[in-house]
Amino acid sequence: MTRVLMAGCGNMGGALLSQWLQQPGFEFTVISPSNRRCPDGVRVENDVSKLEGQQFDLIVVAVKPQLINDVIPAYTNLLAADGCFVSMAAGFSVSSLEKLIGLKNGPVPVIRIMPNMPVSIGKGVSALYANDKAGQSHKDRVADLMQATGQLIWVADEDAIDRFTAIAGSGPGYAFEIARCWVQAGQALGFSEQEAKEMVLQTLLGSAEMALASDSSLADLRNGVTSKNGTTAAGLNALNGGGDLDRLLQQTLDAAYSRAVELR
Ligand SMILES: NC(=O)c1ccc[n+]([C@@H]2O[C@H](COP(=O)([O-])OP(=O)(O)OC[C@H]3O[C@@H](n4cnc5c(N)ncnc54)[C@H](OP(=O)(O)O)[C@@H]3O)[C@@H](O)[C@H]2O)c1
Repeated sequence: MTRVLMAGCGNMGGALLSQWLQQPGFEFTVISPSNRRCPDGVRVENDVSKLEGQQFDLIVVAVKPQLINDVIPAYTNLLAADGCFVSMAAGFSVSSLEKLIGLKNGPVPVIRIMPNMPVSIGKGVSALYANDKAGQSHKDRVADLMQATGQLIWVADEDAIDRFTAIAGSGPGYAFEIARCWVQAGQALGFSEQEAKEMVLQTLLGSAEMALASDSSLADLRNGVTSKNGTTAAGLNALNGGGDLDRLLQQTLDAAYSRAVELR
C-alpha cells in the first residue's frame, strides 16, 4: 500500500483526490486546517503535528504557493526513506522546494505535476517533471496515481512546465471564455442562453473528439468542413481572415508564460 499525505486539499487537490481514489493500492491522509470534508476512506487531520512519527511514501504539496515556505518544512520528517515529494504548486520551482525540504533530509526526490481542472472528471491533461533524485520507481508510482485523471505528458526540463501552464494549465479558462463569447453571439441570433450553450459546447466537444480521432491536420479538418463561398467560409473570414485570431492567441499564451516566469 502506498501511503499518500496531502498538504492541503482545496479546489485542485480535491479534484485530483476524487480521481486518485479510483486507483487501487493507495491510502490517503489529508491535512486541512478547517477539517474539510473528504470522501469516505480518507483520513483528515487539521494539524500535521498529529502525524508525528509516521512515514509516507508520497507527500503532495497542494497548498497555495505563497504558503509553501511556512507550511512544508514541518512535513520533511514524515517522508519515508524511499519517499518522494509531489508538488502541484504553480510557479514554485523544484530547486526552491529542494532547498526547503533538503535542509533536514539531504537530496530528496521531487516530482512537479501541473494539472488542469478537467482532471476533476478524469479528462484533464497534466505535465510532469522529475528532478534527478527521482528514480523510475518514483515516476511509476506518481504515474499510477495520475493515470485516472486523464492524459500525462512527462517533460524533460522545468521550463516546459511553465510553457505547458500557458497552453493547457490555464487553458480551461480560455476555453470557457471563448465558449462564453460564442454563446453570447448565438443569443444575439435569437436563441435562449441554454439553447446556444448546448449548441456551442456540443460543437466544441464533437469537434475536439473528431480531431483527436483523426490523423488529419487541424487545417485539413477545417478545410473539410468549408465549402467555397459557403457559410463557414464567410464566418472564418470574419473570425481570422486578417490573422487577428492568430495574433490574439499568441498574445494570450505569451502573457500567461511571462506571468509563470515572473512567479518562479
Ligand atoms: N486551481 C487550479 O486550477 C490549479 C491548477 C494547477 C495548479 N494549482 C495549484 O494547486 C495548489 C492548490 O490550489 P487550489 O486552487 O486547490 O487552492 P485552494 O482551493 O485554496 O486550496 C488550498 C488548500 O490548502 C489548505 N491549507 C491552507 N493552509 C494550510 C496549512 N497550514 N497546512 C495544510 N494545508 C493548508 C487549505 O485547507 P482548508 O481546506 O482547511 O482551508 C486548502 O485545502 C496551488 O499551489 C496551485 O498553484 C491549481
